[in-house]
Formats: sequence, C-alpha cells, structure tokens
Amino acid sequence: MKKKTVIITGANSGIGKAAAKKFSSEGHRVIMACRNIEKSKPAQNEIIEASKNDTVELMKLDVSSFESIRAFCSEYRRNNDGLDILIHNAAFFNHGEKVFQFSPDGIELTWATNLFGPFLMTHVLKDLLAQSDDPRILNASTTNIKHFFDPKRNIELDNLHGELKDTKKYNVYKLYGDSKMALSMLTFTLAEEFKPDGIKVNAVMIPNIRQEKESLRKFKMGYYRVIATLQNIIARPPERMADTYYHICTSDEFKDITGKLVNIDNKIMSCTKVPPGKGGFGLIKDLFGSDHYPVYVEDREMIETVREVCRTETEKFVQ
Ligand SMILES: NC(=O)c1ccc[n+]([C@@H]2O[C@H](COP(=O)([O-])OP(=O)(O)OC[C@H]3O[C@@H](n4cnc5c(N)ncnc54)[C@H](OP(=O)(O)O)[C@@H]3O)[C@@H](O)[C@H]2O)c1
Repeated sequence: MKKKTVIITGANSGIGKAAAKKFSSEGHRVIMACRNIEKSKPAQNEIIEASKNDTVELMKLDVSSFESIRAFCSEYRRNNDGLDILIHNAAFFNHGEKVFQFSPDGIELTWATNLFGPFLMTHVLKDLLAQSDDPRILNASTTNIKHFFDPKRNIELDNLHGELKDTKKYNVYKLYGDSKMALSMLTFTLAEEFKPDGIKVNAVMIPNIRQEKESLRKFKMGYYRVIATLQNIIARPPERMADTYYHICTSDEFKDITGKLVNIDNKIMSCTKVPPGKGGFGLIKDLFGSDHYPVYVEDREMIETVREVCRTETEKFVQ
C-alpha cells in the first residue's frame, strides 16, 4: 500500500493515540494534532518507539479555536505538500461539568470543539486533500446518538453562544449528544459536496471504549468517575477502535464509500425501519445493536440547518 500522510486530532490520548500508533506501525506518516505539545511529547515518543517509524510529528492545534486552526493549517501547508487522511478524533466531553464554557470565539465549547472546529479545518484543508489520489475524512461520532430514537429529542441550536446561559441549565450530556449528532449529519452533506473532488467523508459510531486514567481524572464529579471506571471494566480497548479507524481510512473496501455511518465492526449502518414513536421488538433490537441509527439522522431539513450554521459560524475564517 502507498504510504499516506494522516492528520489525527487529539492523538495524545485514548483512541487518537492508539490510531496514531496503528497508522505509524503500518508505515504511514502521522501528524499528531494536539493542543498541549509538552504533555503530548511522551505519547509521540512512545508511538515512535513502538512503531519503529520516526515520521510521527507533533503539531499544536486547539480544535475549539478558529485562530489555532488557521495557524495549524498554515504551518502544515508550509511544511507539507499533500494530505491523504484527516481524522477528527478530538472532542470535548467533561463529565459532570456544571458551568457553560466558551471557546476563544465565544462559542459554547462543546459545539466549538465537536462540530465547528472540524468543519472549519475540513474546509481549510480541502484543497490539499483533493490533490491526494484517495483522500478520506473520518468523523468520530458516538453510540450516544441513539438517544435520538426518542422522537422528542431534537438538536438545540438556540444557545450556541450562551444566549440562554442564564435561563437554561447546562447539560454536558445533551450538548455532547447534540454536537455529535450534528457532526454525524454533517457527514452526509459534506460527502455530497466533496464528491466532485473525490474526497470521501464518513463517520464512525464509537461504542464504550476504555478511557485512560488521565481522561477519568478530568471528570468534574467523583460520581461520574466511578461510573466510567466501572464501565472501563467491560469497555473495549482503544486499539480495537483504532483498527476500525484504520480500516475505514485505508482499506480497498472503503475506497469508494462516502457519506456513511459505520460501526466498530466496519459495518455500514442504515436507518432504522422503526418509525419515530413506535416501540416493540424492532426498537429494542436497534437500541442494543449497532446496525441501525435513528430516523433523525436523515432529517434533510436539519442536515441543511446544521450545514448552514457551520457555514455562518466559521465563514470569516474559511478564506
Ligand atoms: N471512549 C469512549 O467510550 C467513546 C465513546 C464514544 C465516542 N468517543 C469519541 O472518541 C473520540 C476520542 O475519545 P477518547 O475516548 O479517546 O477520549 P480521550 O482519551 O479523552 O481523548 C480526547 C482527545 O481529544 C483532545 N482534545 C479535547 N479538546 C481538544 C481541543 N480543543 N483541541 C485539541 N485536542 C482536544 C484531548 O486532548 P487533551 O489530552 O489535551 O485533553 C484528547 O487527546 C472522541 O471524539 C470521543 O467523543 C469515545
């Protein structure tokens, strides 16, 4: 296989780090896009040592900051001729967080990190990707989007800048789920938009994956830390997910696949056959399985709304 250049955001920990190790072990060139260089150095050294591949670079990127994205992309362009694979792995999800936090651009931090940052970065790097002979983008989504099997669940876009911060309770779980659902939906529209350039865009629905101690320490409340620690016992290792990232981004099977939501077993998911609001065995099967996603994912109007919000939030920074 031709050696590729891959950018992985949040590659200093968990799944991102395991993915960086996987790509570099297979001989590819890896750019670890991380917000804290000093903290990420040991991960870079560990990956180089384990993979015996020294083409593993560390570059500074805060995905929540539009200026940081621009600076990262400019530096990347100065030092690189092309790009084959872009993996939007980094995410904000502070369990137990109680207070609204905002990005340097004044956007609620979950939305800035999980949706608008990846959107902007994708567009700023699009022309480089378009020059690759097999360009692929992968968005890290989550099984959390199954909450949208509830017909009352809706993505709320009315508080992106904290317009309602004094009246609306901060709910990190709702914000995380909404932003990841939006990222999943964006996958469809970007796949369409990028077809003429041959860029494939897919999303992977990540189930419970073991979290690092450092990630658990970030949790704001002990209660959630205990639950996550218990979940870790049955969770699959990050290397398992890294293999899925690798397969979607490099295999012949996915060479012409675009605009799909894929599960951990590399299976292309499809929309549930259970209509919204209907229960029964079908719904239970879909809730516990990983073959189907909720009808909401294919809501054309919402997909367009998400695309438009991404465009307006980032438009000053795209050029
Ligand atoms: N683990 C699971 O069970 C699970 C389930 C569903 C989905 N996922 C998704 O899988 C992906 C990886 O998660 P993980 O479990 O591997 O968690 P993790 O170990 O906590 O990794 C998250 C990474 O994102 C980075 N990050 C966060 N905000 C950033 C920012 N503004 N700029 C740059 N990097 C930033 C973190 O950097 P720092 O180290 O500097 O904080 C860290 O490297 C995420 O998209 C997550 O939503 C995970």
